[in-house]
Amino acid sequence: MRIIPHHLPTRTTAALLAATTVLLGSTPAIAQHTAGTDPVDCSPWMTPTVTPEERADRVIAEMTREEKSAVITGMAAYLQGWGPEFAGRTHGVERLCLPPVKFTDGPAGIGNGASGITQFPSHLNLGATFDPGLAQDYAAAIATEARGKGANAVAGPAIDIARDPRWGRFFESPGEDPLLVGDLGAAEVTGTRSAGIMGVAKHLGAYTRENGRNTDASDVTVDEKTLQEIYLKPFGRVADAGVSSVMCSYSQLSGTKNCNNSYLMNQVLRGQYGFDGFTVSDWYGQHNTVASANAGLDMQMPDSCFYSDHLWSTVDSGAVSGDRVDTMVHNVLAEMFRSGVVDSPPTGTQDAVVTGPGHRELARDIAAKSMVLLRNDTVPTDSGEHPVLPVDDSVHTIGLIGSGAGRDALGSGGGSGHVIADDIVTPFEGLYSRGAGNGTEVHYTDGNYLPTVRQLAENSDLVVVVMHRHITESVDNTDFRFGLHQRNIIRTALEANNRVVLVTNTGGPVDLDGYGDDVPAVLAAFYPGQEYGDALADIIFGDVNPSGHLPVTWPLSQDQMPTTSSFGSGAFTEGTGVGYRGYQWQSITPRWWFGHGLSYTTFTTDDVRTTGPNSVTATVTNTGDRHGDTVVQAYAVRDGIRELAGYSRVGIAPGDTVDVDITIPDSALARWDEDARQLVVPGGPVEVIVSDSAGGDGPSTTLMTTQSVFGAPVPEAPTWATVGNGDPAQEQEDRMACKNSASMAGFIGMASYFGMPQKEQAWTPVTDNP
Ligand code: BGC
Repeated sequence: MRIIPHHLPTRTTAALLAATTVLLGSTPAIAQHTAGTDPVDCSPWMTPTVTPEERADRVIAEMTREEKSAVITGMAAYLQGWGPEFAGRTHGVERLCLPPVKFTDGPAGIGNGASGITQFPSHLNLGATFDPGLAQDYAAAIATEARGKGANAVAGPAIDIARDPRWGRFFESPGEDPLLVGDLGAAEVTGTRSAGIMGVAKHLGAYTRENGRNTDASDVTVDEKTLQEIYLKPFGRVADAGVSSVMCSYSQLSGTKNCNNSYLMNQVLRGQYGFDGFTVSDWYGQHNTVASANAGLDMQMPDSCFYSDHLWSTVDSGAVSGDRVDTMVHNVLAEMFRSGVVDSPPTGTQDAVVTGPGHRELARDIAAKSMVLLRNDTVPTDSGEHPVLPVDDSVHTIGLIGSGAGRDALGSGGGSGHVIADDIVTPFEGLYSRGAGNGTEVHYTDGNYLPTVRQLAENSDLVVVVMHRHITESVDNTDFRFGLHQRNIIRTALEANNRVVLVTNTGGPVDLDGYGDDVPAVLAAFYPGQEYGDALADIIFGDVNPSGHLPVTWPLSQDQMPTTSSFGSGAFTEGTGVGYRGYQWQSITPRWWFGHGLSYTTFTTDDVRTTGPNSVTATVTNTGDRHGDTVVQAYAVRDGIRELAGYSRVGIAPGDTVDVDITIPDSALARWDEDARQLVVPGGPVEVIVSDSAGGDGPSTTLMTTQSVFGAPVPEAPTWATVGNGDPAQEQEDRMACKNSASMAGFIGMASYFGMPQKEQAWTPVTDNP
């Protein structure tokens, strides 16, 4: 049985946005961009042998003011939440042979309600693979699908740091460590480029919260060292990789809205990291004209008022220079020429079917490689002692429990990152069809009735309990526990059978407090995409040896996180103590450390030696009896704290010993030097420990680092309240001139308090339960 969608995604939020705009009394006032009328010979800038910069300059010399605005603004009208096509698009200038920029959403597949696409595993799943090569394939596949839909830009990768599991968008982040996030983001940039379209890294910067976003209520205080060492480093990595665009976020840092923030866009992105693409506002994340233009924001999305007629009136008044506007247009056009979207435009259409067997296979491969086996005890059963997983000769019947294994299976999280699968494989389908292959019976209950749960668990050789938890953009969560009934299901199964695996289908860690110690096996599936059930069967039946490792720390309970007191408040009090760094500083032992992940085989690391100023080599042996992949992790130990400095995913045959080379990049070791105002590796000895998690044991060596830097110095320290917002009277003037844009910005903030409704998943009821 396959799942056929019978619901189209609803655009409820778009409708809500539209309705609220009407309530707020805004009137449609989008500027009309009338093209210049003189016939033009486009060949001077349509010549690929000319540099992208020169091509941009040549065409800019021909442009009217309206045409310049057409390049740097979106064309959504006020009764459209995002639209009119894709996530949004610019106008383009036909007269000058310039196509619009058409954005689809990422980061885990084509969003925006599209069908005929692949629902890939979430970005958090990608993080759990610790595999930049796979990240490149993932992004290339998504970009190819975007291209097939006629889009020339993908709003991804998301490279926000996963700071707190209560965050509604936790699943969109690849993890809590800047090296891992930067590595995967940079690889994705390469993947997107390989498909000849543009990628948009998002969301600059320190965007880790939904409630009150895009309003003063989302104001956060983060010190510069923390920004530089944790939140902004991944943006340096994607800039180095040649990312086309960067999206400024709904956050506000110490009074300055991020899309007005000159420190973030001018100083860090362009100055420190040499970014040469274009910046774009998050959707309705722009709040005014002059402050944004001068702070380095090049493009308004998805509407246009701030950067159309009103922009030109600020040029006439001298508040924004004409040169600055030309630079904004230049940044967009040069990148369009550079990326190839002008010379080789996508020819696909929005109704094209762009998924296929190759992409489904990739989705399944990533899903299986990203599931993290957190615990797998050996338990007594009627047929002797067995590890809970994998299915072995002693398992003839599997009791599968939970609506998460059927109608509530979650391949994707919610919000703009939600991807609709046309054809999702539920855990029931995956296990049932795999079981049929070797005569293992799979019996299912959705778990509504606890006596049925007990009976099924008692009569099964192995019990698989699948629990789901939906999280979504636009609203944060007060906790991250399973619901009461779900917890009762788990407890009932545990009472009835020793051999129970709990599968967590969630957007991040779950608080297992009160029963977690009693669950003998836990498998984190996160949001594994449309091939979920088959990938789960691959792991449970042992066809694929688990190799996912936690890209985030899994707390013992939600009360012990470093961010417990500061998630909803203004200050990031933990500073650089994000994730496993904070657990170490506060001497908290989590349930499972960052980097943890079991296999059906075992590995030991017997030795590590320094092989250069930026490399170590570890000797790793597969001590078990089956082939497996492991992630060998190198942590720099400074001030008594471990920080991920390098890693390598490697496959090892049973009994084999291999030398694993791990590169330690300067970007990982660099720390903020207040005096030099730069990220610096001071040079000198650094202890490096090789381990299988941030909290594990392992051999160590001393790296003799040489003095180096990551990025250029940042000349000015941020004086936040004045760094970008500019003159209050001017801000007020901008908002009055663009009331609709301003009210939509406010609505994004309001919406975050009640959240987005869960979009319906593609599923059909289980009808052939044996
Ligand atoms: C999200 C972005 C997304 C945009 C377009 C915003 O709400 O924050 O990540 O790309 O919408 O859908």
